[in-house]
Amino acid sequence: MGTCSTQAYGEAWYWDKRYAHESGPFDWYQKYSSLAPLINLYIPRSHRHHRILVVGCGNSAFSEGMVDDGYAEVVNIDISTVVTEAMQKKYSNRPQLIYMKMDVRDMSDFQTCSFDAVIDKGTLDSLLCGNNSQQNALKMLKEVWRVLKDKGVYILVTYGAPIYRLHLLRDSCSWTIKLHVIEKLLLGESSEHPKWELTNPLPLDDDESSLGTLLGKNPDVHYIYICTKDDSLKAGLKPEVAVESGT
Ligand SMILES: C[S@@+](CC[C@H](N)C(=O)[O-])C[C@H]1O[C@@H](n2cnc3c(N)ncnc32)[C@H](O)[C@@H]1O
Repeated sequence: MGTCSTQAYGEAWYWDKRYAHESGPFDWYQKYSSLAPLINLYIPRSHRHHRILVVGCGNSAFSEGMVDDGYAEVVNIDISTVVTEAMQKKYSNRPQLIYMKMDVRDMSDFQTCSFDAVIDKGTLDSLLCGNNSQQNALKMLKEVWRVLKDKGVYILVTYGAPIYRLHLLRDSCSWTIKLHVIEKLLLGESSEHPKWELTNPLPLDDDESSLGTLLGKNPDVHYIYICTKDDSLKAGLKPEVAVESGT
């Protein structure tokens, strides 16, 4: 997904149909091995009891990579029954990997403040392609905020540059946001000499001008937004998403 090539990305039927034909594994954008240094930085493996939630997991091998890397429990949800059932079967011998069919816009089966980290690779992007994209995205972000513990992190891996994502994140909840970038994979291989140091955050000014100067026009990168829930910021949920307006 480089841009929204189809509105159907926001629809369960589309993904069910797709996963019925594609058994995978397939990872959008980046594989776990490429992002591991950043994941390890923001979700320290030393905390044995970390609970991690991967939203819109698809048939990606990302969560398997995390468990192989030492994470104790990775819960995965997806709106597609086809893919969650296939993944449950595939990993029936890996109790650290849990798969559930759930809509990220309504995760009421999960308690408030129950996860240390939420990982999203391509799922907010999918919702933003569909109908009512802004409303769906805000619903999703509100739910992600709710299920995170205080100081928990929402790690968003996306093709969306700050100009297309920052306002949405800032309008949803009072996140503390850091930005990292990683070069897009060429021929499936990670670059030996990356132009950007993955674990160094980039400056995020209000007008994003210094970032534009730094990255140049249309850089060949994926963006990783590290959004930390900080209850001490008081405001928490912004009023426009705290109220279910239905508009
Ligand atoms: C672009 S794919 C990314 C899959 C995987 N995260 C990866 O990185 O390879 C988007 C995924 O989001 C799922 N999805 C779309 N809308 C969803 C929703 N409302 N709730 C949960 N999952 C959703 C789709 O079924 C699909 O598996």
